[in-house]
Amino acid sequence: MHCTTKESYFHPDITEEFVRYVRGGGVFIFPTETVYGIGANALDDAACARIFTIKGRPQDNPLIVHVHDAGKIAEYARINSDIECRLIEAFMPGPLTIILPAIPEKISKTACAGLSTVAVRVPDHPLARGILSVLDLPIAAPSANPSGRPSATSAGMARAYFENSVPYIFDGWACDTGIESTIVRVDGDTVRILRPGSIAHEDIEWVLPDCRVEYANASDEKITAPGMKYRHYAPNVRVCIISADEAPPEIPVRSHIALLATEQYLAAFHDTLKTRTEIHPFVWWDRDDPRLLAKVLYETYTRVDWGEYDILLIEDIGEKTGLARAIMNRVRKSAER
Ligand code: TXA
Ligand code: MG
Repeated sequence: MHCTTKESYFHPDITEEFVRYVRGGGVFIFPTETVYGIGANALDDAACARIFTIKGRPQDNPLIVHVHDAGKIAEYARINSDIECRLIEAFMPGPLTIILPAIPEKISKTACAGLSTVAVRVPDHPLARGILSVLDLPIAAPSANPSGRPSATSAGMARAYFENSVPYIFDGWACDTGIESTIVRVDGDTVRILRPGSIAHEDIEWVLPDCRVEYANASDEKITAPGMKYRHYAPNVRVCIISADEAPPEIPVRSHIALLATEQYLAAFHDTLKTRTEIHPFVWWDRDDPRLLAKVLYETYTRVDWGEYDILLIEDIGEKTGLARAIMNRVRKSAER
């Protein structure tokens, strides 16, 4: 039999059998507006442990807990400040994750990786909210990818990774944003961005003009998200960051190059590169609007790995806006060796 939710997010795959499977500790994959998540009951240690095993995730890297409605957050975490309330009201549902003190014994210790805090998010995707509402459980879900690899941004990518280990993979088409949520923590009157995302520092400043908004220093493990210290988001092919201010890098003749660059870069350098190599521009976008790059970045990594390329060149788009900063945060991590 099919289940409908309070908000009537009907979907034929949200069946009673599926609900029993998740309540019994099963792992499933679902779309969100940022990236696909690989989820399980956040109240169940064994279910959360399965996610770590399937992903090959380091044990010290906690999971984000997803709830259907912001009103549910207080069941699992303490909201102590007016600033936290205003962030929740302004950005949830949406691509914001907030770190809060966990209510002891409420959330699986495995999901929190033993920390006293919990990361909470209310996704803004009708299928995700439908699933969460029918299950009526908090769902711990990291991004759907084997540890270190690009997050899945389509059901096809998720299937390619996990078809043999996860029986339920919901298809919600391509993710709207394409990069993971912005993670924040509030300290006094400061909002610290632990992981940049599509909710930008300027969006937070606009909602909270009386607060300081800072990026956490990646080298300070106490104030950054534990996961940010790991190599991430990387395709198998070597990634090299290029800049419009410099001539293209020296690349061996007859290399096969995949290129992600702005229209402006292509216009300036395509002919120079083309004389020496085989070049395939995968994505090009207007310098003033990197949303397309965010949306297709991870899918492009996968397509480049399927092709026979020697190198992937990605243009440095700077950090003038919060979204550009979030994209370059991912690109730099994928260029680490
Ligand atoms: O958009 C997203 O956030 C996606 C979708 C599926 O919701 N999820 C996601 O999860 O990106 P994951 O596991 O790939 O990244 C979660 C990050 C990790 O860097 C982890 O260290 C951090 O959140 N995190 C989780 N709990 C935390 C906590 N209590 N304190 C600080 N950081 C935490
Ligand atoms: Mg991830």
